[in-house]
Amino acid sequence: MATMIREAQELVQRVREGDVRSLGRAVSLVEEGGPAAMAVLSACHAANAAAKTVRIGFTGPPGAGKSTLVNRYARLLRAQGETVGVAAVDPTSPFHGGAILGDRIRMQGEQEDAGLYIRSVATRGMLGGLAAATADICTVIEASGKSRMLIETVGVGQDEVEIARLADVTVVVMVPGMGDDVQSIKAGLMEIADIFVINKCDREGAERVESDIRAMQSLAETDVWTPPIVRTTAIAGEGIAELEAGVQRYLAQRADGLQRRRQSAWGGRLLQMAQRELLRQGEARGVNAANMEMQAAKVAAGANPYELVQDVVRNALGATEMHLDHLGVAVKSIAEARRFYETLGLRVEHEETVEHEQVKTVMLPLGESRIELLEPTAADSVIGKYLAKRGEGLHHIAVHVADVDGTMQAMLAAGIRLVNAEVRTGAGGHRYFFVHPANTGGVLLEIVGVKTA
Ligand code: CO
Repeated sequence: MATMIREAQELVQRVREGDVRSLGRAVSLVEEGGPAAMAVLSACHAANAAAKTVRIGFTGPPGAGKSTLVNRYARLLRAQGETVGVAAVDPTSPFHGGAILGDRIRMQGEQEDAGLYIRSVATRGMLGGLAAATADICTVIEASGKSRMLIETVGVGQDEVEIARLADVTVVVMVPGMGDDVQSIKAGLMEIADIFVINKCDREGAERVESDIRAMQSLAETDVWTPPIVRTTAIAGEGIAELEAGVQRYLAQRADGLQRRRQSAWGGRLLQMAQRELLRQGEARGVNAANMEMQAAKVAAGANPYELVQDVVRNALGATEMHLDHLGVAVKSIAEARRFYETLGLRVEHEETVEHEQVKTVMLPLGESRIELLEPTAADSVIGKYLAKRGEGLHHIAVHVADVDGTMQAMLAAGIRLVNAEVRTGAGGHRYFFVHPANTGGVLLEIVGVKTA
């Protein structure tokens, strides 16, 4: 872990120094979404603390010419000495995973320009949807010190609205000749616009679009800012300077609101990030396909899937630290013994017969841990013999560890005597082994954990 963090910091340092290859590598690592992604993002965020990248989002219906508009705008910004990052988001693009979208080919010449970096947003390994993926990629590109970050989305769905919220300034791009143009655009999109662009103004109907927008604006409550309407013909480079003037005006007038906007964007993002992290950690601790397949076999054999899932998740959440997993109590009859514990207020959560141990078990949750009642299914089983020799009573205590195999290896290496020298699978799919009482002060100790992928 420490190595991974150091490597991420070194990579991000090269990104900050302007190494384009390192930037590409950093974005790819984040796209892959593995443990390195978190380290890279964290290092990028630290690098961005001092940076003042302005994020400008472009959204609007497909066919509005947003790519051309963004390309032209990026060129204008470069000519003015700004450095520019572009994240192009197209959930339908067949080019996902590639660095350059098909319609970016005309910008290829500019890929040589170190002050311009274009990347399509791929979501291969990323959890949390397109907006989260886009936010992460922006964070990485911004670490290269770009003064402007342009985010381009296709379409008018919920994803696009969410992505637009990532931006400091949101540009909604409309186009003439789309039937009931403005009415067909979702109200949500109208609400997020800081600037309207009517692109392809060489076409018939630009007037109509503009008057429709104005009509809608007159209905809306007047805020301190009425989004200006900029007419462009991006393909000819017309209106691009006016767009930049609109952006500058917005930034100047709304400077006080910018911080609040970023903060409110973080509220939603943090929830997403925490959920994503929960998923990631869960996956490493048994909430994964391999373990579920094992659990499915138990469901097929009659186990209760609702209880199984509770077990799996509890294990995943509890696996961060060592804790007392359960107390194993040997009893002659579970049916009889559980009556007392149920009177005490405990509830049986899991019931299972573990064939290879010749034992029937029930688990009764008790705070962070549980009481396990063990009833032999054969007189010559381990528990059967225990009962014959000692009578009913506390049989073992079980300690939950994150890494059962690692713990066993460490004990073997230390010469500790184990009851069984390999990890077994027991009730609830938990993996366990027993440490001989000779080492533990006379207590039979079970070490238990979940299967890790
Ligand atoms: Co046990």
